[in-house]
Amino acid sequence: MRLNIAVLPGDGIGPEIMKQALNITSAVCEKFGHTLTYKEAMVGACAIDATGDPYPAETHELCMRSDAVLFGAIGHPKFDNDPNAKVRPEQGLLRMRKQLGLYGNIRPVMTFPSLIHKSPLRADLVEGADFVCIRELTGGMYFGRPQGRSEDGDTAYDTCVYTREEIERVLHLAYKFAAQRRKKVTVVDKANVIATSRLWRQIAQEIAPQYPDIETDFLFVDNAAMRIIQWPRSFDVMVTENLFGDILTDEASVITGSLGLLPSASVGLHTSLFEPIHGSYPQATGKNIANPLAMILSAALMFEYGFNLMEEGALIREAVNASLQAGVVTEDIADGGKAYKTYEVGEWIEQFVKRWIG
Ligand code: IPM
Ligand code: MG
Repeated sequence: MRLNIAVLPGDGIGPEIMKQALNITSAVCEKFGHTLTYKEAMVGACAIDATGDPYPAETHELCMRSDAVLFGAIGHPKFDNDPNAKVRPEQGLLRMRKQLGLYGNIRPVMTFPSLIHKSPLRADLVEGADFVCIRELTGGMYFGRPQGRSEDGDTAYDTCVYTREEIERVLHLAYKFAAQRRKKVTVVDKANVIATSRLWRQIAQEIAPQYPDIETDFLFVDNAAMRIIQWPRSFDVMVTENLFGDILTDEASVITGSLGLLPSASVGLHTSLFEPIHGSYPQATGKNIANPLAMILSAALMFEYGFNLMEEGALIREAVNASLQAGVVTEDIADGGKAYKTYEVGEWIEQFVKRWIG
């Protein structure tokens, strides 16, 4: 098969972790006889510095022409600390999501047996937790207009907007996932207070009977936040709107022990995109200490969801698990043991792939 991918390393640790994910992707392609071609493009703060635009037209065109996008991270402290900055890296990310029509962000939350002790939660609560959070990604308060300030600058407002079509398509995506898993969908909203959530709940109640073998339940978002910590095993597929999903997935990610471990896939109208859920970790930039596993596992998701190449994805997972078991890990999970560099972890996994005989 021909794999033609767009590579967007972005800012901060993005380029370091991307390099490892690419080496591994190309080792997997070689193993399975696929032809990999890829092209790099700029996004985020580096794109602002070079072109004034965090998501240049050239980058968008490359994404549209490619079969999948591998994305690192964006963000830079010089923008975070300047509330008056006119252009921000995050605007590039949001425009990219919108222009590529990436309405469904799929964030699997799973545990790694060798890391259970790293979880801030008790092992008996966390063991076996395995769910998928599907976050709506191109609607809600992130994109609703009007958004802004009053003339005197002392009042600010955001608008949360959802249409039936936006809600329906992401709910169907959630049911599709649940059908392949343990057949349970939890719709998270705040229907006791906000109007958009009431529309979400109404539409979910309409759609649920179309999937008679899938159980649907509803949770208010505050309660869901609690339940993720109290009883993470109770979830199979969780589906929610953009801002709730942003918050709940950061919360859920620490169940596994480190934010540096979780990949995500964004799917929608055009090319799908695969990225770690962590950010650009500016303090670590260039030090080769960042955990590359979320990025590497994003490449696994790319094989699986982007190209339907399940064995290839499984090999990457197997190699990642082996590296964890062998203790070849970066400082965030080294736990007093030897801390390996980003590229050492990457190279170990790459060698595992090269040595593998199916
Ligand atoms: C995420 C990030 C982004 C978001 C930021 C960087 C704009 O937190 O992908 O979860 O809020 O969506
Ligand atoms: Mg977030």
